[in-house]
Amino acid sequence: MIYALILVIAYLLGSIPSGLIIGKKFYGIDIREHGSGNLGGTNTFRTLGVKAGLIVTIMDILKGTTAALLPLIFSVEPKMFMLMAGIFAVIGHMYPLFANFRGGKAVATSGGVLLGYDPLLFVILLAVFFLGLYVSKYVSLSSMIAAIIAFTYTLFTGDIPLMIVVGVLALFVIYRHRANIVRIKNRTEPKIKWL
Ligand code: G3P
Repeated sequence: MIYALILVIAYLLGSIPSGLIIGKKFYGIDIREHGSGNLGGTNTFRTLGVKAGLIVTIMDILKGTTAALLPLIFSVEPKMFMLMAGIFAVIGHMYPLFANFRGGKAVATSGGVLLGYDPLLFVILLAVFFLGLYVSKYVSLSSMIAAIIAFTYTLFTGDIPLMIVVGVLALFVIYRHRANIVRIKNRTEPKIKWL
């Protein structure tokens, strides 16, 4: 029972539409009607600026971290259940109950799950992401590269649940970036200008 409850709470946490809350409450804007149409940190940066973008990104990361820590809060074993809760938070982020199931692309919330489960991996991925961004100027491509590197890293950990869950999260990230992949191929994907 407690296991099911944790998964439901994790999904509901992931469903909190940070971008929609900040956009509507402080700017009167639904960011899904602007830019890429994505309910995520990048599109918030693009549409509402640095302050809103940073707040939304941090909120999205923390959703994943909090969900991953739920089993510890409820004293539930095994440790791999942190990852299960994390997957449910990411599903909530992509398909939020509180925002008509039109959510984000799984990047920040997946990162937050890894921050809760394996902080070193999170720091490595942050470095990979910014290196990718510095070289390519594409947030989407850097996110997908970080997802693939995350999965590759897990292959050397011997942690089978981590391997499977990060593999699933990486597939989520790539699947949700389908439109970005097409735009990158067509050279119509917007590049960032500040790095
Ligand atoms: O985290 C999402 C990012 O990788 C791409 O966002 O708005 O450019 O599609 P966006």
